[in-house]
Amino acid sequence: MEDVIKKLKKIEQEAIAAIKASSSQGDLEGVKVKYLGRKGRLTAFLRELKNIPSEERPIVGKTANEIKEHLKRQLELKIQELKQLEQNENLAVIDITLPGRRAYFGGTWHPITQTLREICDVFLHMGFEIAEGPDVELDYYNFEALNIPPHHPARDMQDTFYISPKVVLRTHTSSIQSRIMEKQPPPIRVIAPGAVYRCDADVSHTPMFHQVEGLLVDKDISFAHLKGVLTAFMEAIFDKDIGVRFRPSFFPFTEPSAEMDISCIICGGKGCRVCKGTGWLEILGCGMVDPAVFEKVGYDPERWTGFAFGLGVERIAMLKYGINDIRLFFENHLRFLKQF
Ligand code: FA5
Ligand code: MG
Repeated sequence: MEDVIKKLKKIEQEAIAAIKASSSQGDLEGVKVKYLGRKGRLTAFLRELKNIPSEERPIVGKTANEIKEHLKRQLELKIQELKQLEQNENLAVIDITLPGRRAYFGGTWHPITQTLREICDVFLHMGFEIAEGPDVELDYYNFEALNIPPHHPARDMQDTFYISPKVVLRTHTSSIQSRIMEKQPPPIRVIAPGAVYRCDADVSHTPMFHQVEGLLVDKDISFAHLKGVLTAFMEAIFDKDIGVRFRPSFFPFTEPSAEMDISCIICGGKGCRVCKGTGWLEILGCGMVDPAVFEKVGYDPERWTGFAFGLGVERIAMLKYGINDIRLFFENHLRFLKQF
């Protein structure tokens, strides 16, 4: 019997040594199979119990079972130990003393939105109020109320997107003028920012762009007021001294009419593809409100005079930021937008 117990103890020692030497769950699984599995050494031993003299059986069986339980406990302990080690290793890789990453708080305003806000700010400081009108507009407000009857050749100046024969995508913010004047008597001092639409596309034209309309109606308003307001605006919006010029032009809803150009910042006035070689970039149309427009809204043209202007927001943004292709604003590449 001594021999048998010795044999058992030897198996136990070997098993314990194997458990201690294990460095992974896989190793432990191997040890378990080798000693406690169905064909394991301890199991085989217990199976041989029947060959042992019956008086020795209880004591040998008891010892064998104790060893079995002991090995199971040791295996369980080792599993826990390995798990703990693994966790510690992970913690060693994570340096919890490092400062946290700075949170990313979303994006920035689109350069056109920024420019639009700056433009509105300047006029708000001059005492203008902000008005708004619909993008999908009646032909009446976009054209007829502005002294542009059907079949008038001036409709060709703006390639129009028609929704139906009487409804258009507004081609300019001037569509807001009569809407405002119908609602209130003079004096009026408003700006109206918004998107406008034309079938038009190249380096300085896009099918959708933004304008800011200005309308001022009062007693004794002259072209000098118009020039004064717009020149002050340009000085406020561009930091550096910038060359401007008024050029005679034609709009059916203003008389006289002019366009204001700014010396091309992209080429310094030498001529490039943005200014089409002229050295100047047109940024707004303007003029004294035509008496015909006043009459349609019931204003007395003998009593009231006023001026109006419509400026191109993208053109101002191009000049402010030195961007040589207007289409960049609407391609929405993050690398472009992140610069603002
Ligand atoms: C007009 O739209 C007139 N409504 C302006 C006006 C208002 C005149 C009030 C008199 C009184 P024009 O089509 O020239 O005018 O456009 C005005 C400005 O919008 C231009 O000077 C230019 O800066 C900008 N613009 C015109 N077409 C485009 C386009 N396709 N893409 C980007 N900007 C444009
Ligand atoms: Mg024009």
